[in-house]
Amino acid sequence: MLRLGVNIDHVATIRNARGGLNPDPLRAAQQAIAAGANGITAHLREDRRHIRDADLAAIKGGINAPLNMEMAATDEMLRIALETKPNACCLVPEKRTEVTTEGGLDVAGQEAHLSPIVAALRAAGIRVSMFVDPDAHQLEASARLGADIVELHTGAYAEGRAGELERLIAGAARAHALGLEVHAGHGLTYDNVSAVAAIPQVMELNIGHFIIGEAVFTGLDVVVREFLRLMNLARQ
Ligand code: PXP
Repeated sequence: MLRLGVNIDHVATIRNARGGLNPDPLRAAQQAIAAGANGITAHLREDRRHIRDADLAAIKGGINAPLNMEMAATDEMLRIALETKPNACCLVPEKRTEVTTEGGLDVAGQEAHLSPIVAALRAAGIRVSMFVDPDAHQLEASARLGADIVELHTGAYAEGRAGELERLIAGAARAHALGLEVHAGHGLTYDNVSAVAAIPQVMELNIGHFIIGEAVFTGLDVVVREFLRLMNLARQ
């Protein structure tokens, strides 16, 4: 079965544009789960530009579904993750100046830095995911570090770059052969989700920006149901 994780960061982006409490990311998380989403993803960025510490705690306590916390590999985020105890943590690269997560984490280039963070999360019973480009050396480094999951960065594919779907297909097969659970996400829309959903080793898609944007027009419930329909269709 292919799972859908809904990233609710941009509900917080809209709230923060005005301050105050509306719209509430927890309400979005609950509505996504009620519509059939299998989990919720939230990225606590170091600059707190969208999700804030209180949102993370509220979502963890307020949904009856797995929470996937995206985070930079820093001491501060590790401390918050160990306090929050999400189902999974997805380690992502983070630059303050970027608009969104621009590329995969360089796991191979910073194994010594990542190793104790992966170990501490796993010791606390938190599954560890690495957000990586579908490169064999990044997948192999993720496996060496003991990660449970790799989330393949689909951004280049979503931008339409030639050869990227083939890289994702090969990466998913390689990751699976290494014993890693395979997830994928970034930039997925109604138009491009099917080819990724059809990759047999992919177990979960994490989708945010398009879902929240489209929800303005049709409602979150309709968008979540439509993604689940497209994903299931691609899988048949
Ligand atoms: N997965 C990861 C690790 C991400 O950082 C993001 C963006 O926050 C997503 C998935 C979702 O990407 P999008 O918002 O483009 O759907």
